[in-house]
Amino acid sequence: MKNNPSLDSSGKISRRRFLGAAAATLAFPTFIPSSALGLGGTTAPSNRITIGSVGCGGMGTGNTRSFLDQNDCQVIAACDVDKKHLSGLVQVVNRKYENKDCKAYHDYRELMARKDIDAVMLAVPDHWHELVAVEAARQKKDIYGEKPLARTIAEQQAMVKAVADAGRIWQTGSWQRSVPIFHKAAEIVRNGLIGTVKHIEVGLPKDYNDAENSQKDHMTVIEPPPELDYNFWIGPSQMMPYIPARLHRHWRWNYNTGGGQLMDWIGHHCDIAHWGCDFDNSGPSEVQGHGVFPPKGEVWDAAKTYKIELKYPGNISMTIAGGDPDIKMGTKWIGTDGWVHVTRGAFSASNKEWESYAQLPENLRKIKLYESSNHHRNFIDCIKSRKPTITPASTAHHSAIPGHLGLISMLLDGRKLKWDVSAEKILNDDQASQMLTRPFRAPWKLD
Ligand SMILES: NC(=O)c1ccc[n+]([C@@H]2O[C@H](COP(=O)([O-])OP(=O)(O)OC[C@H]3O[C@@H](n4cnc5c(N)ncnc54)[C@H](O)[C@@H]3O)[C@@H](O)[C@H]2O)c1
Repeated sequence: MKNNPSLDSSGKISRRRFLGAAAATLAFPTFIPSSALGLGGTTAPSNRITIGSVGCGGMGTGNTRSFLDQNDCQVIAACDVDKKHLSGLVQVVNRKYENKDCKAYHDYRELMARKDIDAVMLAVPDHWHELVAVEAARQKKDIYGEKPLARTIAEQQAMVKAVADAGRIWQTGSWQRSVPIFHKAAEIVRNGLIGTVKHIEVGLPKDYNDAENSQKDHMTVIEPPPELDYNFWIGPSQMMPYIPARLHRHWRWNYNTGGGQLMDWIGHHCDIAHWGCDFDNSGPSEVQGHGVFPPKGEVWDAAKTYKIELKYPGNISMTIAGGDPDIKMGTKWIGTDGWVHVTRGAFSASNKEWESYAQLPENLRKIKLYESSNHHRNFIDCIKSRKPTITPASTAHHSAIPGHLGLISMLLDGRKLKWDVSAEKILNDDQASQMLTRPFRAPWKLD
């Protein structure tokens, strides 16, 4: 709290900051809706959390809409290096508030330098997560940041440190934690209803799920369109010729910018697997992964199918797989006395009674996990209370580590890696250790 100059000791926006913002508004008079004055049951501007959205593509638009639905926050700025995406989101915001106040930025550093912005929503491609998040923490913003935490483990470590050092509130976009069936499944496992956990299956997608779309007409090298600052978009990654099918949304399928289906989903189903086993600050001690990669020279290089075997404390093993017919999408914990499986929209278990878990006797449900029914709401509440969110940065860091290590092993033809959980080091492979980070293209540097 004391790190945020614009919040007072109760977590509210300070009057001084509000008056400054009000003066700025007067310089550019706009229509002020009654809701902005705190009428009609809404929150007055002096008590609203102000938000800047960075990354106005698919998820950035979705997240921003969720914040627009919360009447005690106000989105006042948006940033993107693609003018089309930027103006699209600015319009969404202005339409909602019936004004023209949402300011557009090309460079996230300018948005973050604004003292009247309390929090930022970050939904840039994975290769940008670290730079943008560390700048946000440095500028004392609270942060809603997307999964996976970052492109490499070293980048994740830098982010966790920056957020902790600056005392910021962080929520990861691992929103499954705020959905009741995932909460129920994890709580059943944590309360030992399935006995001692022996094995966990984490089923993720295979291939590239937007391949059909992009293959139609976007697979060749062309000039970047005028609305896109391609050099900025590539940022810290290696420069590559502009091929539309490597950009918006499709950047996931290239390791230069993303991590394939494995890293796209690790922050969902592996995150839930960890939650059920109390592994939010733990991780695997051994990891071995195998991937089937496309032929060299293709537009995308991410593995199309993959399977990773991991060993965890307590003699627990885990299999993470994409494209294995025996492993269902979602998370399945298998214990000495039963099993539970959960995925989006479906829960099943070896014992039918667990479906009505809330009706079971209290003595079977002693361990209560953090409860949130709305992920974005939870972030705003935590900004005010200064309490940790349901998925803080360190949790996201640990949820993604199995994927990062699995990917490194896959890229090294299935070499078995030994991981020191507390030192966060690979113990037995120098080449693999070097892959915990990656070179940053100048002038960008790992903070
Ligand atoms: N939580 C979820 O369920 C979920 C779902 C989808 C995506 N995501 C995550 O959201 C993030 C964005 O994914 P997406 O699908 O929206 O990608 P996208 O390509 O649709 O959007 C990314 C946007 O960021 C912009 N951008 C790139 N570099 C930038 C920079 N330096 N500054 C400002 N803007 C920049 C791009 O121009 C683009 O508009 C990723 O981390 C992804 O993993 C999360």
